[in-house]
Amino acid sequence: MNHLDVRDLHVAYRTAAGEVPAVRGVSFGIAPGSKLGVAGESGCGKSTVALALLRLLPATARVSGQVLLDGEDVLGMRWGRLRAVRWAGASIVFQGAMHSLNAVHRVGDQIAEPVLVHGQATPAQARRRVGELLEQVGLPAWRARSYPHELSGGQRQRAMIAMALACRPRLVIADEPTTALDVMIQAQILRLIDDLVTGSGISMLMISHDLSVLADTCDRLAVMYAGRVVEEGPARAVFAGARHPYGAALSAAFPRVGDPASRRAPRGLPGDPPDPADLPAGCAFRPRCPQAQDRCAEVAPVLWPAGPDRTAACVRVLSAEDARARGVPPPGESGEGGAAPAAAQAAAPAERTGGADDPGGDRAPEPEETR
Ligand SMILES: Nc1ncnc2c1ncn2[C@@H]1O[C@H](COP(=O)(O)OP(=O)(O)OP(=O)(O)O)[C@@H](O)[C@H]1O
Ligand code: SF4
Ligand SMILES: [Mg+2]
Repeated sequence: MNHLDVRDLHVAYRTAAGEVPAVRGVSFGIAPGSKLGVAGESGCGKSTVALALLRLLPATARVSGQVLLDGEDVLGMRWGRLRAVRWAGASIVFQGAMHSLNAVHRVGDQIAEPVLVHGQATPAQARRRVGELLEQVGLPAWRARSYPHELSGGQRQRAMIAMALACRPRLVIADEPTTALDVMIQAQILRLIDDLVTGSGISMLMISHDLSVLADTCDRLAVMYAGRVVEEGPARAVFAGARHPYGAALSAAFPRVGDPASRRAPRGLPGDPPDPADLPAGCAFRPRCPQAQDRCAEVAPVLWPAGPDRTAACVRVLSAEDARARGVPPPGESGEGGAAPAAAQAAAPAERTGGADDPGGDRAPEPEETR
């Protein structure tokens, strides 16, 4: 059984200007002890997914779908159970987390807090655990007595990682854990997280906009665009040869480790991501896609098989025969009796494949639910 299974997750934020559909039918799975990287441009919904996993979204968020942690649906948990699951079942290192340490409390007391709150230790045991945790993240135990301002940015982020590991969680969610740090420290922190998680049986969801970083640290990669997963597969294979034009642009936009040519001439992506409240018809990537075809305006692609253990939400991964079988107009037959988008969508869910259990989809949102 997967450690984490996210199924058809939808999140919409209510705002004064109307609803913002930030996450639109995301599904993925993480096997015990494995690492899934989630990449995508700013605003594609990465943090919204991360926060939804532990029900940390604001009250303005409307959430539906399933988040199964060891088979138990987090979205349906009672408050007491949810409290127990946070930290002990799964913990999160937030985007910019190092700024969220409380300035007036010693670092050690802040790391000890979840250990004490979850009733796992006496104060003396909690102090010992804090010392162990600090050493695990490469800080001397005496740093427990320091205040946050006495630590560097990298040291503060190490303290946050210690806090996330404090209750021995089975899943760690790391949302851009290194964005605010300089490049050398970023590499150290990522290596640290990798070392702590690898071989420990802890599963990890690592979020970044940088595909190259994820390809180096994760087993599998999910690429998000406009609130959906548009590509999923083994990390190195996706990075080296993305099947979705957006995944390809994203991996070309950053230097490849060890490849001086890609460092000299990174190819950026033209244009901006779409406004989630005003998405184009058909494929949401169409206005920026260098390979768009007429039929891309008619079909909202879902994750289709795109190679061994891989899926991609792009009509180009379908052979003409496959496209017809799925109700998608084959190339050059757009508008000539090809199926309506709804038919293309309806054909997909039964045929989803890939390592992630029931990956991504374009199914309609479940009935409204406020959490
Ligand atoms: N509290 C909120 N209220 C309304 N809209 C929100 C809220 N939080 C996020 N959004 C919108 O939801 C979409 C997804 O945001 P999210 O923060 O999940 O993106 P992200 O992929 O994590 O981006 P980044 O890489 O910049 O961190 C964006 O359009 C964002 O403006
Ligand atoms: S479906 Fe069409 S527009 Fe979308 S990514 Fe594929 S080729 Fe580009
Ligand atoms: Mg974010």
